[in-house]
Formats: sequence, structure tokens, C-alpha cells
Amino acid sequence: MNPAPHILEGSESALEECAELLRRDQLVAVPTETVYGLAGNALSECAVRKIFEVKGRPLIDPLITHFKDASTAFSYVHANAAAEKLASHFWPGPLTMVLEKLPIMPDLVTAGLKSAAIRVPRQPLMRALLQKLDLPLAAPSANPFGYVSPTRPEHVASTLGTKIAAILDGGICEHGLESTVLDLRFPDRPTILRPGPICSSEIESMLGCSVHKAEATGQNTAQTSPGQLSKHYSPSTKIRIVEHGRTDISLSEGEALVTNRKPTTIRSEHVYWLSEDGNPADMSRSLFDLLQKLDRMNYESLIIEAVPEEGLGIAINDRLRRAAAS
Ligand code: TXA
Ligand code: MG
Repeated sequence: MNPAPHILEGSESALEECAELLRRDQLVAVPTETVYGLAGNALSECAVRKIFEVKGRPLIDPLITHFKDASTAFSYVHANAAAEKLASHFWPGPLTMVLEKLPIMPDLVTAGLKSAAIRVPRQPLMRALLQKLDLPLAAPSANPFGYVSPTRPEHVASTLGTKIAAILDGGICEHGLESTVLDLRFPDRPTILRPGPICSSEIESMLGCSVHKAEATGQNTAQTSPGQLSKHYSPSTKIRIVEHGRTDISLSEGEALVTNRKPTTIRSEHVYWLSEDGNPADMSRSLFDLLQKLDRMNYESLIIEAVPEEGLGIAINDRLRRAAAS
């Protein structure tokens, strides 16, 4: 076990220190525009094994590999025209593509699957780190397996803090929800494995064909994404979801209510909100942050208002349902 991790502010010397730790097969929590990642050198078996171990993640759950740019990413997989088109539009950014892997992509990272999940993140510190290192970084979300993903350095420090070498501080993550995972192995039938900040309609308008949605199987097999497990992203506190608009709820002892927007009529210290005015980007950014905060406040249960099921709301409701599943 390491001593408490360094939280390194995003300076040139911090980037160099992180790069050096990663070159030596250490793990560093890194900021991305989605959530914090638990990063290790994707080409080092030792580093990748540590990622699974520290996260408590079964070896059958494949990791996403992060690259400095699209041409490097596509040298690890069989790309196709649809993938290239999406990359030129959405990368760097919160889109992960699943494609057939090439032999250079390590089997441990892909959990023995023939496919690999790749992404080029946009967060400036993460980009600078990838460029400096010139190595691909395998990085799942930097939370213990099954728990809520971290969107601030303190979230990582309080869960995995003693098990990693450093945390690179990029402040709060812009989107606050994990990337959209899109299976593009069959480019005529693109399939969303995990909804995220990039919506299916945006992908459809780029590709000019319809995008499918994978069904959750509820089972953790090598063919399934953990993002598809029906229970995931769960805090310890029990969660009950109520329909959008149904916030006229009288709270019992030990309960807290989380609404979409700041309520004008309800007055209680146990009412929290995801945004001032229901703006989806604000709600997405604050969801995991608020769940982590409330989980430390010893409520017995949280009653959470669903968001409108459209655009970014699809990904927010997806995470809410999984957090609530028992
Ligand atoms: O925003 C994100 O994607 C963050 C940041 C750090 O990049 N990462 C993240 O990683 O959320 P993780 O490991 O928590 O989730 C990765 C998802 C899982 O649902 C995993 O099963 C899926 O991607 N995945 C990875 N490789 C896959 C593959 N070859 N086929 C299908 N799904 C895959
Ligand atoms: Mg995760």
C-alpha cells in the first residue's frame, strides 16, 4: 500500500512527474472530460494487472484504451469509414468506439476479446500527458468496481487514494458521465453499448443510418460491458426514482429528495437539486458529484426525480436506474 497519494496540480512539472510514474508502471488517476480515469501504460502487463487489482475489477471486463490522436488509435484496431468519420467529428471527445483489434493491442486490456474499445480524450491535461508520454493509457473509471464514478480528485482520493501513486488534478469533470460506448464492428449496424454525452441522434446525423441500442443482459460475461450491467454506479445509500415532475413528496425521517432544478416551493434542508434551471449539461455534471456527497451523509434513502428521457437525459436516466438497482 502506498502512503496517501499526491494530488498534483496541473503544471508542467506535475505532468512530467505523472509521465515518469506511468513509465515506471505505476498507476495515476487522470482527469478526462467525462470522469476521472485510473490510468496505466496499456502496453505493460504489470501496469494493466495493477489496474484490475486496485479497482477490484474482474479480469473478464475489458478496459478502454486512450490515445493522443485518431491516427495512433486506429493503428491498434481495424478501422472503417464510419469510425474515421466519427473520429474526425467527435475526437478528441467523449466517444469510445469498439472495433476489431489488431495483434498489437494487448489481450489483457481487452479481456481476451477480439475487439477493443478506444478513445481520444479532450481534457487538456490528459491530452498533454498522452502527448508527452507517447504511450497509450488503459483507464477505467477511477472508482472501486461497481461504485459511482469520480468526477473530482477528492472522490478518487477517498476511495482508491492509498492504492495509487498520484492523482492529477483537473478540477471537476466537464460532462460528469462516462463516454458513449459505440460498437462499430459492423458499420451498417452501429450499436450503443453505453449511452453517454454524445447522443444517438448526433451519431445518426453524422453516419446517415440508424443507431441501435444494446439490451442490458444483467450478467457479467466477457461479451457484456459492465456499463450494461443492470446494477452499477451504485452508492451504498438506497435510491428510489420518481417520475419527472413528481416532486410533491413528503419526506420521512432519513430520506432526502433530489430534484432536477432548484425548487421554488419546497423548503427543506433535505432537498437537493442537480441544477438551477433543469439544464441537462449542468445536471449531468453534478449527478455523480451529488451522489458521492449524499452517500457520505448517512441518509437511509434518496428519492431522485428522473430527468426528461431525451438527449443527454437518456444517459442520466440510465445511470440513475443502475444506481437504484438492487
Ligand atoms: O468516460 C469513460 O469512458 C471513462 C474515462 C476514464 O475514459 N472510462 C470508463 O471506463 O468509463 P470503464 O472501464 O469504467 O467503462 C468502460 C466500458 C465498460 O462498459 C466496458 O465493458 C466497455 O467500456 N468496453 C471496453 N472494451 C470493450 C469491448 N471490447 N467490447 C465491448 N465493451 C467494451
Ligand atoms: Mg466504470
